[in-house]
Amino acid sequence: MVCLDMLLANDEEEVVVNVIKLKNIKIKMGCLFMKSDSEIILKISALTKSVQLEDKTLELLQPIDLTVNSGETLAIVGSSGSGKTTLLSILAGLDLPTSGEVYLKNHPLHQFNEEQRSQVRANHVGFIFQQFLLISSLTALENVMLPAELANLPDAKELGLALLEQVGLAERAEHYPSQLSGGEQQRVAIARAFITKPDVLFADEPTGNLDTKTGIHIADLLFELNEKLDTTLILVTHDPKLAMRCQRQVEMDSGVLQEKYTQTKSTNEFIADMKVG
Ligand SMILES: Nc1ncnc2c1ncn2[C@@H]1O[C@H](COP(=O)(O)OP(=O)(O)OP(=O)(O)O)[C@@H](O)[C@H]1O
Ligand SMILES: [Mg+2]
Repeated sequence: MVCLDMLLANDEEEVVVNVIKLKNIKIKMGCLFMKSDSEIILKISALTKSVQLEDKTLELLQPIDLTVNSGETLAIVGSSGSGKTTLLSILAGLDLPTSGEVYLKNHPLHQFNEEQRSQVRANHVGFIFQQFLLISSLTALENVMLPAELANLPDAKELGLALLEQVGLAERAEHYPSQLSGGEQQRVAIARAFITKPDVLFADEPTGNLDTKTGIHIADLLFELNEKLDTTLILVTHDPKLAMRCQRQVEMDSGVLQEKYTQTKSTNEFIADMKVG
C-alpha cells in the first residue's frame, strides 16, 4: 500500500522514488477506473444522423453518447444495416451528424467544415475502409505513401517501405492493386492507415472479405501495430472472435448504440500487475 506519508520521507532521493512509485500506481489504477478528461480521445454526445428521402425522413442514428479513452480498443458490432459504417464515418470526420457533438482530440468536428475536418483527419486519423479503396493507378508503395505526402511528412518513402515490410509485402512495393490478392490489398490498406502514426485508427470490417487464416493474420497485424504505435483502435466487425480481442464492445441495433462488454481484470490480476511495476 502506498500512502501519502510515504512521500514525506526525509531523504530527498527517497521522496523522488516514492513519487515515481505513486505515479506508476496511479497510471495503472487509472486504466481501470480513474480516466481523466485529458485521456479522452473521442467524445460524442446526443449524436444523430438522418437522411431526407423524397417522401420521408430516415433516422439512421438515434441519439448516441460514447466516450473512448486514448489507447483503448473498441469493437462496434451489430447486424447489417444497423448503422455501423454511418457512425464510423462521422467519428472519423468523413461525414457530419445531423445533430449532436463529436469531439476528436478536443476538435469539435460537428462545427468544422470539410477542409478543417480533413486537416484533423490528416493529423490524427487513420481509416481502413470496408472495401480497401486503394487507388488503382498507384503502386502499393505509392498508395501507402499517399497520406504521409498529404500530411507533408518527410521520409514518406522510407516510412512506406518500412510499413510494407511490417505487413510482409516488401517484395510487392511496385505492384499495382490489380496485381495483388484481396488479403494483400487489405495489408496495403493497413500499412497506409498507419503511415501517419494516427492517434485513432478506424477500421470498417478489416477482415470481412478474407479467409479465416488471412483474417487472423490481418487482425494480429492491427493489434500489433496498435500496441507498437499506441494507437486507439475502433473497429467494426461481424466476427465475434475479432470483437472479443478488443477491450470493449458496443452494439448497434437499428441506429441505437448500447454498451455490450468491457474487459476487466480480476482483482488478483490487478494486484499481480501492480507488483510487477
Ligand atoms: N445516404 C443514404 N441514404 C439513404 N439511406 C442510407 C444512406 N446511407 C446509409 N443508409 C442506410 O442506413 C442504414 C445503415 O447503413 P450502414 O452502412 O451504416 O450499415 P452497416 O451497419 O454498416 O451495415 P453493414 O454491416 O451491411 O456494412 C442502411 O439501411 C443504409 O441503407
Ligand atoms: Mg458497413
